[in-house]
Amino acid sequence: MSISRREFFKTAAAASVAVSVPGSFGVFARGSDTIKVGVIGCGGRGTGAAIDCLNADAGVEVVALGDLVPDRIESSLKRLTEAFPTRVKVPADRRFTGFDSYKGVLSIPDVNLIVTAAPPGFRPIHLRAAVEAGKHVFMEKPVAVDPVGIRSVIASSDLAAQKGLAIVAGTQRRHQQLYLELMKRIHDGQIGEVVSAQCYWNMGDLWVRKREPNMTEMEWQCRNWLYFTWLSGDHIVEQHVHNIDVVNWAMGAMPKNVMGMGGRQVRVAPEYGNIFDHFFVEFEYPNGVRVASACRQTKGCAERVEERIVGTKGVALSSGEIRGEKPWKFDVKERNPYVLEHVDLIASIRGGKPLNEGRQIAESTMCAIMGRMSAYTGRAMSWEWAMNSSKLDLTPACYEFGPNAVEPVAVPGTTPLV
Ligand SMILES: NC(=O)c1ccc[n+]([C@@H]2O[C@H](COP(=O)([O-])OP(=O)(O)OC[C@H]3O[C@@H](n4cnc5c(N)ncnc54)[C@H](O)[C@@H]3O)[C@@H](O)[C@H]2O)c1
Repeated sequence: MSISRREFFKTAAAASVAVSVPGSFGVFARGSDTIKVGVIGCGGRGTGAAIDCLNADAGVEVVALGDLVPDRIESSLKRLTEAFPTRVKVPADRRFTGFDSYKGVLSIPDVNLIVTAAPPGFRPIHLRAAVEAGKHVFMEKPVAVDPVGIRSVIASSDLAAQKGLAIVAGTQRRHQQLYLELMKRIHDGQIGEVVSAQCYWNMGDLWVRKREPNMTEMEWQCRNWLYFTWLSGDHIVEQHVHNIDVVNWAMGAMPKNVMGMGGRQVRVAPEYGNIFDHFFVEFEYPNGVRVASACRQTKGCAERVEERIVGTKGVALSSGEIRGEKPWKFDVKERNPYVLEHVDLIASIRGGKPLNEGRQIAESTMCAIMGRMSAYTGRAMSWEWAMNSSKLDLTPACYEFGPNAVEPVAVPGTTPLV
């Protein structure tokens, strides 16, 4: 690169992280207006994010809920009402179910902020509809499962910027004091020039949702969404995107080449759908720096969830430490980053300077998708090709409760690169 990495990052950060739209027509919920939240996807995180949003600002109310299935609306409403009895106002005619439940939530005129946390395969559709309806958005990561979805999310994010609408993604590390302090030091050169990095999400098992006798195949897949690539993107996308996003943040760039491998060795039963259980991916950045990424979901194995950025003068650790010529340790008691992301979102809406993290999370999600595509096919690929030319689109034939064939588990060297 012809400019130093530090200068590059400063320019890139100014250009992409916070999009300020002074005097734009994003007038919804400015100043002290009540922010009225509609939730799409009322599971564990959708409900949790709505509670975080209520905790972030006393002027927030939850007024509409949408989910694929009624029992998740009921459990969400119970949890929300117990936490905030007076600020959760969701009468029966503002509870929507089914694949079109998002349309119901978006049709409520006084909803000005959407929390969207359905499985990632639905995110591009829900984001586009929310932005078209003129709503601010908090959306959980990851934000798509294939390159076609990523392009849609980027287009919706650009539209949101034009309309003065905020988009904040559920990459809470981006709002966490520890990471903000660590990144400031990395970008100020405290570890010298970055020469490599490693990131990991190695853990045991996660939940499996049982297939009930009356469930259609489609309903069961949607309930057990972690294990179907069209819904979750696979665990490299669903979980490891957090760590990959941190590395991209440190690098101030996206990788230009990706080569990955992986397999499905232990979790082979049908309830584990068609995803892999381990991946190893190498990302190569435009300045030649190579980054190693590993993720695994296997019970009884060593666990590690962290990022490690290696420079010529030191190493930065996501535990909040720099080792090397200029050592440093983070020792502040932090506020909950899951609440802070909503504090930042709401401040940006109220202040008329909407944050827009849409492209940033779309690009990090794309890195994880590329890692998966490479591991599934056994092929290496460039960012340029995947971003502009890949035609991979995992959308099912239709969104209806009924049959939905499960794609076979990928076989490296055989599964085609699309
Ligand atoms: N930022 C974080 O740390 C974090 C933590 C956990 C989960 N997440 C993310 O949050 C999202 C949801 O995860 P979860 O743990 O809440 O899962 P969950 O299964 O508890 O909730 C998903 C909900 O979406 C509903 N749903 C499915 N299809 C839908 C559709 N088409 N329209 C509307 N609702 C639909 C399901 O019925 C369910 O209630 C995922 O993207 C996940 O990666 C992020």
